[in-house]
Amino acid sequence: MGKKLNQKTIASKAGIGTDKQYGSIVPPIYLGTNFEYEELGKEPIYEYSRQENPTRDHLIQALSDLEEGLGGEILSSGMAAISLIANILELKSKVILPHDCYGGTFRLFSSLDEKGILEAYFLNQGSKAFIGESIDEINPDLIWIESPSNPLLQVVDIQEIVKKSKKKNALVAVDNTFLSPSLQNPLKLGADIVMHSTTKYINGHSDVIGGAVITNDAKILSKLKFWANNLGITGSPFDSYLTLRGLRTLSLRMKQHEQNASALVELLSNHPKVSHVYYPGLKHHPSHEIAKKQQSGFGGMLSFEIKNGLPEVKKFVDDLKILSLAGSLGGFESLVGHPYTMTHAALSPKQKKDIGIKKNLIRISAGLEDTEDLLDAVKKALD
Ligand SMILES: Cc1ncc(COP(=O)(O)O)c(C=O)c1O
Repeated sequence: MGKKLNQKTIASKAGIGTDKQYGSIVPPIYLGTNFEYEELGKEPIYEYSRQENPTRDHLIQALSDLEEGLGGEILSSGMAAISLIANILELKSKVILPHDCYGGTFRLFSSLDEKGILEAYFLNQGSKAFIGESIDEINPDLIWIESPSNPLLQVVDIQEIVKKSKKKNALVAVDNTFLSPSLQNPLKLGADIVMHSTTKYINGHSDVIGGAVITNDAKILSKLKFWANNLGITGSPFDSYLTLRGLRTLSLRMKQHEQNASALVELLSNHPKVSHVYYPGLKHHPSHEIAKKQQSGFGGMLSFEIKNGLPEVKKFVDDLKILSLAGSLGGFESLVGHPYTMTHAALSPKQKKDIGIKKNLIRISAGLEDTEDLLDAVKKALD
């Protein structure tokens, strides 16, 4: 076998050389819903685009190569990707999820639990009791990991959870949205399934809602394909085209996101109006050592607490230039968010307290702007 290609090369080469008719370097978009049979009984490679489509295949092939998986599916949103994984489970499966998982994941698994379709357990996966006792007590069918978590950027040891899950015959699925395949590869750490909201870093241009699920297990792959088609939640060819276009620059973008995030962390850590900064790259962050071990970078997301509560938060976000107040992340543009009232608004005050989401917490998704301009904007608003 030849030398493994670098991620930048995989992303650059994806789909190139596939247009045999005209030799277009950029593979064309196949918008067609259906494909012609050459003759009766001879099925074409592609038949109907809900099931399979060449443009969608270029993207999934690239993402599978980046995550070192066997294959997967491209879905119409990150939530569709999460629903797909929920649908391959048997009825009444037991699922352990992080207590601080993405709000949409919490809502989906809680509703499925309420309907009696599965049992969902939301636990602090960073606690000693989690590996020690909780997994034994629950005997789960699936452990859902989100690392780093949103918005406090808690990192859990994926390999340690995988080791324990194997003894219990449980699957492990990882939401890798916050780091992208460029900074973390959960399948290489032993997970069975990795998923992304491609809406974020993978597309990176804040103009496509999409999702992806990748696995290295043939049986899981065939279930994913069956259910994606069955539910009719596969992604559109045009969205897949745009996402592949974004993917080509993923590695370069992640470097700049991280550079800007690190510079902001340094500024905030030394600012008298800031009481706490959350970033796995900080030596005193509780999961710094695990992040260093399993990630190839600390990423572009950070959170911090501002002194004096909500009025100061409001002044800060209202005074900010360059950064926009919005709930998403992972795009080219720097965004600031207030988890308490925005991304985590659906959680009760008690749930937010248990997780550690305070009213004075601010989340930043560092974009691709010039570092000095960003620092200047944040410093001015804080001052
Ligand atoms: C970590 C994480 N997972 C999944 C999702 C859901 O993705 P989408 O909005 O593309 O449905 C999000 C969205 O913010 C997210 O942040």
